[in-house]
Amino acid sequence: MKITFTPEKNSTAITFTEGTQNRFVEKDGGTSLSIGYGKDKTLARRKAILFLRKIISVAKQNKLKSIALDWEEVRRIVSSDVTDTDLGQILAVSLSMANFDFVAYKTKPKDGFPFVEVVSLLNASKDLQKDIRRGEIIGAEVNAARELSNMPGGDMTPKILAAAAKKAIAGTTATLKVLGTKEMQKLGMGAVLGIAKGSTEEPQFIVMEYWGSPSTPKGRSGQQKPVVFVGKGVTFDSGGLNIKPGDHMYEMHLDMSGGASVIHAVALAAKLKIKANVIGLVPAVENMPGNNAVRPGDMLTSLSGKTIEILNTDAEGRVILADGITYAKRYDPAVVVDVATLTGAVLTALGTQASGLMSNDQQLEDDLRALGEVSGDYVWPFPLWDEYEDMVKGTFGDVPNISTSGNSRDGGVIAGGMFLREFAKELGCPWAHLDIASRMTATSGEFLSKGSVGAPVRLLLALAEHYAKRTDR
Ligand code: BES
Ligand code: MN
Ligand code: ZN
Repeated sequence: MKITFTPEKNSTAITFTEGTQNRFVEKDGGTSLSIGYGKDKTLARRKAILFLRKIISVAKQNKLKSIALDWEEVRRIVSSDVTDTDLGQILAVSLSMANFDFVAYKTKPKDGFPFVEVVSLLNASKDLQKDIRRGEIIGAEVNAARELSNMPGGDMTPKILAAAAKKAIAGTTATLKVLGTKEMQKLGMGAVLGIAKGSTEEPQFIVMEYWGSPSTPKGRSGQQKPVVFVGKGVTFDSGGLNIKPGDHMYEMHLDMSGGASVIHAVALAAKLKIKANVIGLVPAVENMPGNNAVRPGDMLTSLSGKTIEILNTDAEGRVILADGITYAKRYDPAVVVDVATLTGAVLTALGTQASGLMSNDQQLEDDLRALGEVSGDYVWPFPLWDEYEDMVKGTFGDVPNISTSGNSRDGGVIAGGMFLREFAKELGCPWAHLDIASRMTATSGEFLSKGSVGAPVRLLLALAEHYAKRTDR
């Protein structure tokens, strides 16, 4: 999809009306499509995002390839709480996200896939055009994360994911390094290696660096401390020996969604040339029940030195993230945020509208809540109180990978967070955990195609930019 700022021939003008009806209107010899924006006088930010997506959704349903929007009209129906700059960006991001569909495995229909090809936006000032271009880049990167996540497990192995990360930063100043089994053995990353043992696919530890802060022309000494993202890259989660029952294995090729979002958040930071230092770490493994698989009761020695008592091989995400979080320490980070499709429990708790947020730092929690609201990647907090520490008391090892307090199903989201907190304790900087299992796939009414929604690429960018502006860390 291309956004132009001049009128296009053969485009269908889109107009907005109160109510919910969409209809074609004959006017001055041309046809325009009138779309209902609901009954609110002006749309608050959340509703504006949905309405902008709806425009594309309706256009696609009507097989329109080229549409025209009047900026003045868009501005008129959106609340003045949303600034022009913001609205310009939201517009481009939302249109792009709504236009995406995963068609890599579909035969192209004779008349092409029903994407909108051109949106001509009329009456957009030069300043606004800049905001729109920025929004387009963000939207494209979110969609790239969705494309990666949606790829079937057989076609998105750890090695293929590492190659995709390389491709994502091609042409930017960001760099990539990939550790294989040998390098991880040398470092002692027993947690990642242990989970990978049941698969014939070699695990990969993907390291992406973008040094964009102006205070660091070269080298790392005296630099602005980087923001480090750690993404769960389980390319397929069968559950391992604790194999997933029935239809619970469906969609487990999406278990690298956290990793995909981290890869594309770093790529996005580099493409936008933001003035921040951003590191992306993605432990990538396939969780399989092969002959050499990790067994319940097995002990893994993590990079931190702590032993992990595997009590359930299906709680694999937190185990590989433990090594990722410990690896982050070498960057002396300003902040570490891990992103993972970690628990089914977060879906039970929040439904499909928000990701779970846990942190050991109140300011970071507040920042992420607020930035989630602005970016559209909504997050909601859970507590990580010391009182929950019983959950992570090992019987024969240091840390068990499922809760050992009471019913192991109670407080499943928090149990995941408490496990990770044990490793984040060593960081000496604020840390947060985003459990995005609840935002892994699109939900009804959000005008996004089936499959991955690319959460939380927009939020990670917002956080990196937030830290770029800060001078106190
Ligand atoms: N990848 C799953 C979590 C998941 C489930 C994501 C459904 C998206 C949709 C994770 O590795 C897992 O299996 N978690 C277990 C944890 C349990 C064994 C403590 C779960 O949620 O059941
Ligand atoms: Mn699992
Ligand atoms: Zn998993």
